[in-house]
Amino acid sequence: MPHPLEQLRDDALREIGDAHDEKALDAVRVRHLGRSGSISAWGEQMKTLGKEERPVVGKLLNETRIAVTVAIEERAGTLRSQKENEAVANIDISLPGTPSERGSLHPITQILDRAIAIFRRMGFALADGPDIETEWHCFDALNTPPEHPARNEQDTFYLPDGRLLRTHTSTVQIRTMQAAPPPIRVIAPGAAYRRDEVDATHSAQFHQIEGLYVDENVSVADLKGTLEFFMRELFGAETEVQFRPHYFPFTEPSLEIYVKSKALKKGDQWIEVAGSGMVHPAVFEAANKERGDKAYDPEKWTGYAFGLGMDRLAMILFDIPDIRLFAQNDLRFLRQFA
Ligand code: DAH
Repeated sequence: MPHPLEQLRDDALREIGDAHDEKALDAVRVRHLGRSGSISAWGEQMKTLGKEERPVVGKLLNETRIAVTVAIEERAGTLRSQKENEAVANIDISLPGTPSERGSLHPITQILDRAIAIFRRMGFALADGPDIETEWHCFDALNTPPEHPARNEQDTFYLPDGRLLRTHTSTVQIRTMQAAPPPIRVIAPGAAYRRDEVDATHSAQFHQIEGLYVDENVSVADLKGTLEFFMRELFGAETEVQFRPHYFPFTEPSLEIYVKSKALKKGDQWIEVAGSGMVHPAVFEAANKERGDKAYDPEKWTGYAFGLGMDRLAMILFDIPDIRLFAQNDLRFLRQFA
């Protein structure tokens, strides 16, 4: 005859096996392991047993408790994974998934990346400077006198402390020369700001790539060769490049750069894309003054500089009719460049 405890254990194990959900299993647990469950009841009964019987029954009781506890844990694990399997089994893997939204680079970022890659191949390093600038870096150091219209409050965003949002990236020419002696070969991509009347071709914030090359015996021929190569890489080998005399305070001589390319929509038009010129000696002297040395001796060093209008270049390259599209965050527009 099995001991009643063995009977109890077998009953409990059968009930556990029959429990088909968590709730049923929990009821079994309470019935046997709970404070007033069958196994606890046996614990109470121990006290009434004689000395000889007690250790035998105690051992049996312990084994029963362990067996039932383990069986309940195992059953709980089985029920849990059954439930998970059922949940997965109901998924129709042939249904289309939820597509994840994919971002893409802004067209201005794309053209900046392309332009930077071209200049890097020619050995230009990247330089930068702050968007919030001093008047000195933006104008005085660039040989731009106090009465120059660019300095007018109508044209420039001034801060209460006298600093301003840079009106061009040419500030980085000065910052670069302050930081290192010649030779210099850098480009500085970045934003510039003007209080322009906003229209299809004017925006209060736009983007430029500034270039500065200072070495011994640099000439206009170097400037022309470099920028011609750049324009042909960007717009195609058939691109024509024209340099027209102009005036900038910080260069002498100064040249405006125009391109024309059959590869473009407006293939028969000359389009102005950059300002450039040979660095004015006064700019070298301003750098020297700030450095406190004669590193940029205009008798020894010459250089060229240029400023490319990147929004303009992007509009030409991608045939975009209105500069305001760049900042409107309209996905129908942006997706065309994804
Ligand atoms: N800073 C000028 C502008 O924003 C562009 C420019 C002209 C930059 C001539 C240059 C330069 O470096 O040499 O209109």
